[in-house]
Amino acid sequence: MSSSELSSVGIDGVAVYVPRLYVDLTSEWAEARAPLQSSDPATLVAKLTRGIGVRKMAVPDAHEDSATMAAMAAKRLIDRLGINPADIGYLAIGTETTVDQSKSIAAYVLGMLSRHYGVDLSHVGCPQVQFACVGATYALEAAAALIRSGSLEGRSALVIATDIACYAIGGPAECTQGAGAVALRVSAAPRLLELEPRSWCSVTLDERDFFRPNWSTEAVVDGQHSVDTYLRCLDGVLGSAARASAARARGARDALTADYYLFHTPFPRMAEYAAARLYRRLEALEQGIGPDGWGSEPERERNADRARCKTEVFQAWFAARCGPGLRSASEIGNIYSGALYLSLADLIESLGERGSSAVGRRVLCFSYGSGASAKLFAGTIRPEFTQTAHAARLSGELGSADSSGRRRSLRLAEYHRLHGLHGVRPDLGPVNPSVVAPNEEFALLRYGSESSPQRVDLGYRYYDFVEQRSIG
Ligand code: CAA
Repeated sequence: MSSSELSSVGIDGVAVYVPRLYVDLTSEWAEARAPLQSSDPATLVAKLTRGIGVRKMAVPDAHEDSATMAAMAAKRLIDRLGINPADIGYLAIGTETTVDQSKSIAAYVLGMLSRHYGVDLSHVGCPQVQFACVGATYALEAAAALIRSGSLEGRSALVIATDIACYAIGGPAECTQGAGAVALRVSAAPRLLELEPRSWCSVTLDERDFFRPNWSTEAVVDGQHSVDTYLRCLDGVLGSAARASAARARGARDALTADYYLFHTPFPRMAEYAAARLYRRLEALEQGIGPDGWGSEPERERNADRARCKTEVFQAWFAARCGPGLRSASEIGNIYSGALYLSLADLIESLGERGSSAVGRRVLCFSYGSGASAKLFAGTIRPEFTQTAHAARLSGELGSADSSGRRRSLRLAEYHRLHGLHGVRPDLGPVNPSVVAPNEEFALLRYGSESSPQRVDLGYRYYDFVEQRSIG
């Protein structure tokens, strides 16, 4: 079947949920951590903001987890697009911070949405896909294929990426923590981004760059090796895409040429390193040097990327092609599976401000998950994109004192208490006290504690929507 014969499938809308609590990395946190890094607060803040590109990290409250955040992102998408929940035919979750070793988070989310909207969703398939930060992209690829196959009978799919990034307190990765969820509506005749069916490329390596053993709530990461593995996987999919395009008698460069580039963004500088690698590969292709001639020695390639980053011509290209997708990462932190799609929401919000000039623009997306696997795919901005762009809206709620007053800065002691509450541990009975009590949101209400012949629910998580609290 040729590309033109494949039916149009893509992303119809995107919505993001970020917990209201955050740690400001430039004040109390920097003062506490600087001595651990044999530094002073001002130097550490310079490293964070300029060297790594982070300012704040979102932290879930005690009543929040990957399931509640996913349900919140889905609710935002459903409400903002006016979707009839009964029209959803598939609900897939990508996560690496699951809440149960057996049950799919998607089933919890289905239950929350079903009770909240009063609709029967029992016809909906609900898998959870795990492969570090790339799980949601595997789910997106599968959802697009299901829609194309006709087996959803005209219904749309929800793909939700949801995660809590949690590292050891005091370690070098702590400043890259974050939390959040992004919901995508995938449908035939999408209004936002039509996916190019032939653009998908994958690479997988059996690597130990980053993982989370079953006994740990914190990820274990070999920092520099994780950066190099990310870039090796990027090279892998860029090479595959270039070869496949050349084999189809299109220029090898065509596959990698786009108006906008979105990357998995664990921290903003990583997107810059990745963009520099891609820029250098585009230059090589321009000079007739194909993937077999690209360098592969990590340190040499890394140094060449860093040198390219310092050039004015690259910085201008990076600001125009990648900048629109990097508006919020520094204010939220790493949201793992959702990081690429947060970037998509940023881009859409930014294009929405510009209006019709964005129509037809090509967007190339790089999704990466440690351990390690990567996917590259492309899409084109649809003429109707302004109809659904508003669902991506996020910037208004990210300021420290945003107009809605939603965000709330955590003191160091509060953050330390919340850190490590999420994950594998024997939770029974009431949930730990929230910093801000749930209000108009899905919340974890309690853990089951029964184990009798009549009923067994030891450790089961009970969720529901908490209606607006009456103040005063
Ligand atoms: N002022 C300005 N810049 C400064 C500075 C200062 N005072 N001090 C240092 N810097 C710069 C450094 O020069 C460096 O920039 P360049 O690369 O341009 O030279 C940058 O700050 C970072 O410095 P380091 O490499 O020394 O930082 P670090 O050793 O503290 O570690 C890290 C950084 C490896 C990213 C660490 O935070 C980490 O392990 N993070 C988690 C792992 C991660 O996110 N890996 C990314 C790839 S894996 C992935 O993508 C999956 C995932 O989501 C986890």
